[in-house]
Amino acid sequence: MEELEALSLKEISESVRGAVKPVRILWQTPDTIAFVARGRKGRSEFHNDPSDEVMYMISGTMNLHYLTPGGEEKILVLREGEIMHCPAGVPHSPRFSPDAFLLVLERKRRPEELDRFDWYCEKCRTPLYQAVRKVPDYNEDPVSRVYEEFYSSAEKRTCGKCGHVAQRPA
Ligand SMILES: [Fe+2]
Repeated sequence: MEELEALSLKEISESVRGAVKPVRILWQTPDTIAFVARGRKGRSEFHNDPSDEVMYMISGTMNLHYLTPGGEEKILVLREGEIMHCPAGVPHSPRFSPDAFLLVLERKRRPEELDRFDWYCEKCRTPLYQAVRKVPDYNEDPVSRVYEEFYSSAEKRTCGKCGHVAQRPA
């Protein structure tokens, strides 16, 4: 067995602040993934995945938008030093600033499992686009990839019902 190791969330957050990638993976094993993320400008989609998630706010404040089974959008405010549990299958959209830092614990996906990323029209709530992905390795930064896919296409960002076009964050 390799030696065990303690990690400083403060030091890791500082390294994520200056990095190109907004996420640093602390470990990935068959049963757990841990990563520290800084906020993303314009986080807008709802992530629906097969793993429970535990989120701990290292610094700053997050507005975690989520959808109830009835489709109602709610917001949980997670403040610095607070922790929460987001059950598997709850569509959630973690919105916090690039100078705030979040620790996320979840489990590695099984080979057959899929993650879903859903965008809705911000004016009329009509579904705009859904990306479905296998996420075998979090180092691939799946969120950045589906964001590029969505924002690089005016067609995907245009509401078929009301015509509103979601804008790429500045
Ligand atoms: Fe719309």
